[in-house]
Amino acid sequence: MEVIIRENAEAAVALTASLITEAIVANPSLTLGLATGRTMEAVYAKLAEIDRHDGLDFSLAKTYNLDEYIGLPPEDPHSYRYYMNEHLFSKINIDLRNTHLPLGMAEDIDEECLAYEDSILNDGGIDLQLLGIGRSGHIGFNEPLSALRSRTRAKALTPTTIAQNSPLFKVPEDMPSRAITMGVGTILEAGRIIMLVTGKEKAAILAKAVEGPITSMISASAIQLHPKCTVIVDETAAEQLQEKEYYRWIFDNEPEWEPYRNNNA
Ligand code: GLP
Repeated sequence: MEVIIRENAEAAVALTASLITEAIVANPSLTLGLATGRTMEAVYAKLAEIDRHDGLDFSLAKTYNLDEYIGLPPEDPHSYRYYMNEHLFSKINIDLRNTHLPLGMAEDIDEECLAYEDSILNDGGIDLQLLGIGRSGHIGFNEPLSALRSRTRAKALTPTTIAQNSPLFKVPEDMPSRAITMGVGTILEAGRIIMLVTGKEKAAILAKAVEGPITSMISASAIQLHPKCTVIVDETAAEQLQEKEYYRWIFDNEPEWEPYRNNNA
């Protein structure tokens, strides 16, 4: 795992968007794993901006989102399908048929979860998975005690997550208490993981996830098991990391990061 500390959220977002852009340019048939949440809104805005300037081609790309609320139809403005259409899919030339989210309205949730796993497999697996982190330490909606080998399934949301996300609902009490989420095991099978974390309210959980022991109490700590994982953070999120100076040295000296050092991306 590498941790890249950028001076502010804007630079962290720009680097994340650049890495996604490079991946899609290198492989137009890329299968991208996508995340939602406030942090990612800036990434999708940046990708849309790069697309406007440079004309990216997403026509052959496929996407799989991490999760969806159970009980929300795609046209509900609080659903993650709506979020993705709004923030990204409507801004780029992706074929909506190639964009996948679990169906929160599925009659048989277990079957929907199995079908989601099959679909990922049929598309050859996820090449690049984008992740955020929730205050409960979740990736996707893998709440504490999610098995490290878990697959796509329904998960009850913790009070911490409900407190974190319910303000995004017009009527906070309307936030569903369950969601379908890719499992930790599903996520770990991606070819590459990029986790983006910004803001001081994430500093404590980020330090536990990255430098603490691997534990199902903090699902995000499972990324330590992944052989190709880059964690991109801003200074405020990095505040409680112990090895900051080492991480900075890597970014300042490793040839891989040379193209990104002196610009905002
Ligand atoms: C939701 C999503 C997560 C995401 C988290 C972070 O809970 N299920 O995938 O990482 O939000 O949200 P934010 O960026 O708003 O802090």
